[in-house]
Amino acid sequence: MKKILIINASPRNGKSHSRKLTELFVKTWVKRYPEDLFTYREVGLSSIPHITESWIASAFVKVEDRTEENQRPLEFSNVLVRELQAADIYVIGTPMYNWSIPSGLKAYIDQVMRIEILPIFRTNFSKS
Ligand SMILES: Cc1cc2nc3c(=O)[nH]c(=O)nc-3n(C[C@H](O)[C@H](O)[C@H](O)COP(=O)(O)O)c2cc1C
Repeated sequence: MKKILIINASPRNGKSHSRKLTELFVKTWVKRYPEDLFTYREVGLSSIPHITESWIASAFVKVEDRTEENQRPLEFSNVLVRELQAADIYVIGTPMYNWSIPSGLKAYIDQVMRIEILPIFRTNFSKS
């Protein structure tokens, strides 16, 4: 049994083409793998907070040195990261906005790219 995280990034609902595509993906997948579980993360219809100065300052404090004050700005980020870690497969439905992704999806990426969690960051930063 696989866990699939569907991330929808359009601020449109009923008229959204990218949502229709993720729905089509789910319908098709379920026919083949009916035992799999789906979780939805909405980054288009609901707002994902931008990272802040206190978020950045806290994220760069070593986990073992974090005070309660450092924990607070990362609480929502922790929820998103745990959700990502729990999933085996990610499906992102997103429009293209001005040659890029919508700001909600970018804010989501900023929230989940955590220095102490991602091995690629650990390697790069430990050299400096
Ligand atoms: C603000 C805005 C910017 C857009 N920028 C681009 C773009 O740079 N390139 C492109 O091919 N389409 C662009 N589009 C078109 C959308 O990607 C397209 O309408 C897409 O279907 C929107 O996704 P949705 O239907 O899931 O809402 C833009 C649409 C909007 C509203």
